Amino acid sequence: MVVDRCICHETSFLELKEIARERGLNSVEELREAGLSSTNCKLCVPYIKRMLETGETKFDLLKPDKRSV
Ligand code: FES
Repeated sequence: MVVDRCICHETSFLELKEIARERGLNSVEELREAGLSSTNCKLCVPYIKRMLETGETKFDLLKPDKRSV
């Protein structure tokens, strides 16, 4: 299974990455405060952290012990 979006906000990580770059948002907290992701279930948080660190926008499903938020 590939994870490529914040489902709750119906926004792909590719879109989030571009918006983050355009607005100078550098953390999950900044994206959350802007209302762009991660305000509901927060399952996307570890993936968005990795997106911001590595630039990747598609991920294999993380094991539960790696999903710390
Ligand atoms: S998937 Fe991002 S808040 Fe639910």
